[in-house]
Amino acid sequence: MIKLLTIVGARPQIIKAAALSRAIKTNFSGQIKEYILHTGQHYDQNMSQVFFDELNIPKPDFNLNVGSATHGAQTARMIEGIEEKLVQLKPDFLIVYGDTNSTLAGAIAASKIHIPIIHIEAGLRSFNKTMPEEINRIMCDHASTMLFSPTQTGINNLINEGFSTTNRLPFTIDNPAVFHCGDVMYDNSLYFAEIAEEKSTILQQNKLEKGAYILGTIHRDHNTDNPQRLSSIFEALDKIASDNQVDVFLPLHPRTSKLLHKNLDTDLLSRIKANERLKIVGPVSFLDMIQLEKNTALIMTDSGGVQKEAYFFRKPCIILRPQTEWVEIVENGTAIVADADKQKIELAFQKLYKNEDLTFSPVFGDGSASEFICEQIINLKYKFDQ
Ligand code: UD1
Ligand code: UDP
Repeated sequence: MIKLLTIVGARPQIIKAAALSRAIKTNFSGQIKEYILHTGQHYDQNMSQVFFDELNIPKPDFNLNVGSATHGAQTARMIEGIEEKLVQLKPDFLIVYGDTNSTLAGAIAASKIHIPIIHIEAGLRSFNKTMPEEINRIMCDHASTMLFSPTQTGINNLINEGFSTTNRLPFTIDNPAVFHCGDVMYDNSLYFAEIAEEKSTILQQNKLEKGAYILGTIHRDHNTDNPQRLSSIFEALDKIASDNQVDVFLPLHPRTSKLLHKNLDTDLLSRIKANERLKIVGPVSFLDMIQLEKNTALIMTDSGGVQKEAYFFRKPCIILRPQTEWVEIVENGTAIVADADKQKIELAFQKLYKNEDLTFSPVFGDGSASEFICEQIINLKYKFDQ
């Protein structure tokens, strides 16, 4: 039996981990035993527990309860806790997802004690090293033994950094395996879309009419912590909602809610509060979120995951960042990088809103990335043991 330790911590990782846990439970439970460690990076009920409940993810075997702190302190506490559990559990592999501090901590802890790392969502690059996530992903990729990239662009980025797709067994940290596997988030969106349609009441609760509202999320530190950028985004949202008489529904990350009052001036803040078309709520559950995505007219976001989900559900997307790792959706013409620039956001809106001419060619695989990943892990372990 292969022993895996999965590290989760932040909301998107918990969601991504659901896809692999489901594949293991359904198809590979005779060959793979998964343990889950939650670092506690996200801890509010609506940022963590709700996803375990709704996505049927097994209760974590370990919770480090690290919570919020500066990058260094948070990552250091995680490394210490993860190392202790790795020594105790002795897994065959450590699995990490994406680019958060929890991912980086897992990668540092495991690589130093020679536990092979499997990195899911490898190879993505924004080419902006001022983003904490860019540092995390680069360091994690270079400490991994199996790298699973969702896109061909991810594979190309890895090749440009010296990785090879033709390495042979046995795979090690110095001779890693690189796979193009599709996106585990796409697996989830396909699996949960109908369930969301049945179970979610978010549209009725908020009086949102299908196809007649805009969905937005904002949480990137680069936007939330910078008063000028945050104001520019909210100026644009306020104007778009008023000029087009369209509801803009914003389930905000707690980071953003906390910083709105600090970083927006009182005039803008009161305009936002007075604008009945701007509907600001707290984070919503995953089923509610995909129901919102499926039925929206357009998405505006600085989230990595939400950009992709826009594409999965064939919705135009305005990217509220200076660049994106998901370049395919921009090349396809269904998403526009507008940064935090009010004018660019408004222009992008004019181009994409009610645009019937968008095509969404396949980019993210066929919804079976998780099964492919499990098969490769079993293959590797089996061949290692020969
Ligand atoms: C983290 C990830 C980011 C990811 C995001 C997903 C890093 C460096 N960043 O950013 O890549 O896109 O998660 O959502 O790992 N907070 C709460 N309750 C919670 C969690 C956070 O109130 O349950 C607040 C705290 O004020 C905290 C702030 O949000 O200081 C930021 O949380 P943190 O986990 O440090 O970073 P995120 O912005 O969530
Ligand atoms: N999400 C959610 N509820 C929300 C906002 C986002 O369930 O209120 C989901 C979203 O559908 C996606 C994931 O969280 O699957 C994206 O996470 P987030 O935007 O926090 O981080 P990122 O992807 O930018 O790292």
